[in-house]
Amino acid sequence: MARNILKVKEKKDRYDVTYMAGDDSGFDMMEGALLVMEAMDLPINWHRADLGWCMWEKSNKKFGEGDPRCNTVPPETIECIKNTDATIMAAITSKAGVKGFKSAILQMRQLFDLYINMRPAKKLPGIGTPLKGDPDIDIVMFRENTEDLYSAVEFYPLPKEMFDLHPGMNRFREGKGNIAVSWRVFSEQGCERIIRAAFEYAKATGRKTVHCGNKANVIRQTDGLMKKKFLEIAKEYEQYGIEGHEENADATAMWLIKNPQNYSVYVASNVFGDILSDEASQLTGGLGFAPSGNIGETTALFEPSSGSVPKYAHQYKVNPSAMLMACKMMLDYLGLEEEGKKIEKAIGEVLVESKPGTLTYDVLRDFRNDPDWAKNAVSTLDMAAAIAQKINPAFTGEKLAAAKEKVHKMCAWDEASLIGFDD
Ligand code: IPM
Ligand code: MG
Repeated sequence: MARNILKVKEKKDRYDVTYMAGDDSGFDMMEGALLVMEAMDLPINWHRADLGWCMWEKSNKKFGEGDPRCNTVPPETIECIKNTDATIMAAITSKAGVKGFKSAILQMRQLFDLYINMRPAKKLPGIGTPLKGDPDIDIVMFRENTEDLYSAVEFYPLPKEMFDLHPGMNRFREGKGNIAVSWRVFSEQGCERIIRAAFEYAKATGRKTVHCGNKANVIRQTDGLMKKKFLEIAKEYEQYGIEGHEENADATAMWLIKNPQNYSVYVASNVFGDILSDEASQLTGGLGFAPSGNIGETTALFEPSSGSVPKYAHQYKVNPSAMLMACKMMLDYLGLEEEGKKIEKAIGEVLVESKPGTLTYDVLRDFRNDPDWAKNAVSTLDMAAAIAQKINPAFTGEKLAAAKEKVHKMCAWDEASLIGFDD
């Protein structure tokens, strides 16, 4: 039997995990998440690695602008990920229009062939949904993570000989100026493995439907392939009582608002999955609560869907929930499901109780309608500590102080502490 790709390859008594704080508020989120992990006494050895804008700057300083060795991902980070069982990362910062700059997360997805992007959107207690009628929402999206328009096969201007490849290009020949083209590449294997991952997940978790979003009605070859593979594979899973439904991805965007309770497992190509997973997460509290798992045959990398909020960098203002939900996904991956459940439960309890001194600004502003949110907000670390204490009530006083000091050191962001491009 094929192994369950959503779980670590080898069960161990103790795991090695790479943690990467990323950039800006990513450091605050990671510090908050590690504080909760400290309260849990997990069988994990943590290994620091760095990536993102901080590494881009460091490499430019070291090699000089324009040097091909400049990158957002240093070789040390790649090694560290190779040598550990799983990776957890916080948010990174990208800046548009920087020559030679390549997104760190896109590189990781390609480099480690992390072809599954698993994105749960589940209604959280104390957050709920902005939708009318308070529908139940518990959707797990499987976004293909390595192909499609993200294949980075692009042209601008389009070389002359490319116009002869397809008669459809004739109408772009004259009078339209230069042409930009991005190839949308789908492989049979790429479609098949993401669809199988979605069905296998449904089978393993007792979910009864898998929807596939596509535009095979218009985009005949790429989405046509996706639809064909989906229908073939869906047949194989009928014997397990799982129904496959394929539909237009634009229709999904509408139905997600009208009837989100009808979706359980959803599979889509890279771009449609990127867009629809943001929509689904907005129905359940937004990116501040949404985690994402990038999973492949050899390793997995978990991240919050929230950004690095540069304007709040190192001010400990951001909500640690999405980061902690990413930790929960990682613990599931490592087979520490019970520990993962504790995190989700604790976040829910803190949100429901809504005690003064436990919630970050976004929760007060966006979900509690508190006009004094700026004044009443607590720090990332205070909210993390409140969550940690739900799991371990003894995590107070000296224990808490010592853990705070430890995780602060683990996430030091001064130049000397960053690892990468070192001799
Ligand atoms: C995501 C993000 C990334 C993507 C960006 C930051 C490159 O939107 O993980 O969904 O487009 O995949
Ligand atoms: Mg996205």
